[in-house]
Amino acid sequence: MDVRVLVVGFGHVGRAFARLTALKGSLVERRFGVRVKIVGVVDSRGAALKPEGFSGAELLKVSEVPRSSVCFSEPYGVCGLSLKSLYDSVQPDVHVEVTPSNYVSGEPGLSNVMFALSRGANVVLANKAPLALKFDDIMGSARARGLKVKFRATVMGGSPLIDTVLSLRSHEVKKVYGIFNATTNYILTLMHESLIGLDEALKTAQAMGVAEADPSLDIDGWDAAAKLVILARLLGLKLNISGIARESLSKVTLRDVVEALKRNSVIKHVAGFDALSGEAWVKPETLSSDSVLSKVNGLLNAAVIETDVCDYILIGKGGGPVETAHSLLDDIVSITGGLI
Ligand code: HSE
Repeated sequence: MDVRVLVVGFGHVGRAFARLTALKGSLVERRFGVRVKIVGVVDSRGAALKPEGFSGAELLKVSEVPRSSVCFSEPYGVCGLSLKSLYDSVQPDVHVEVTPSNYVSGEPGLSNVMFALSRGANVVLANKAPLALKFDDIMGSARARGLKVKFRATVMGGSPLIDTVLSLRSHEVKKVYGIFNATTNYILTLMHESLIGLDEALKTAQAMGVAEADPSLDIDGWDAAAKLVILARLLGLKLNISGIARESLSKVTLRDVVEALKRNSVIKHVAGFDALSGEAWVKPETLSSDSVLSKVNGLLNAAVIETDVCDYILIGKGGGPVETAHSLLDDIVSITGGLI
């Protein structure tokens, strides 16, 4: 079965997805009978379109063009077309939304996703903002049209957290908390291990492509808060991003880190919600060095899910570009094919 995919957003994640499809497309086809054809990639100035689907070599090439320049790539580039015109040209089955997250308006992702659904395309997101702001509207629109919206890449994108939460159908989830932002965890790890300041550590995190385009979204807890909203919505809880108490990591100094280390503790930027009280938070916490979360370092994320049956802990990669790209591809396969 062929699946025509339009990739909207062509930064670190969009490019990693294009490369992954080039390199692992045949594996997916062999295992699941799904041939993922990327028919277009779109950035802020235009697109590269190939209605019959790019070859692997073409995808590798287009993923190397400079930022915001795919429309200049020969011979498939087109500048300045509306999303409607792009849809008319390539008729995608699946819309991959990987534009940057914007927690004020949700745009451009929110309009893109609603448009995709109106045109009968299934949607796969790594951009968290549309879901964090308008989860019910998006799901309602998809349901009304018999379409699928998948977003495994949005929370702990490198690990199957969304799948795990969805699988707990008869459990009563009482509390979810953990480390849901790789950038701040990486910064804190460098601050503890190398005793460098937050600004210097942030530059290294940015170089690894894991920080948001606007890194204050990581530092000020917006990214983790959006992830809490998505997890809560999966559990049927009406948590809104505005209702989450956020404390920025920027208030944590090297002196605080040294003081914590002297007390055999570490500082982590922890996010969570209590499903019973509705309380939700993102804040720096000082944790004893024998606690589970204190040992989760670098780009790793961790989730603790407390339920009436037992508690679960998932530790794994958050959303680096390569891991996020795998989740996007997994979601496409789960929409369109799969053995079970
Ligand atoms: N900026 C995010 C993070 C990317 O650092 O976790 C993955 O969601």
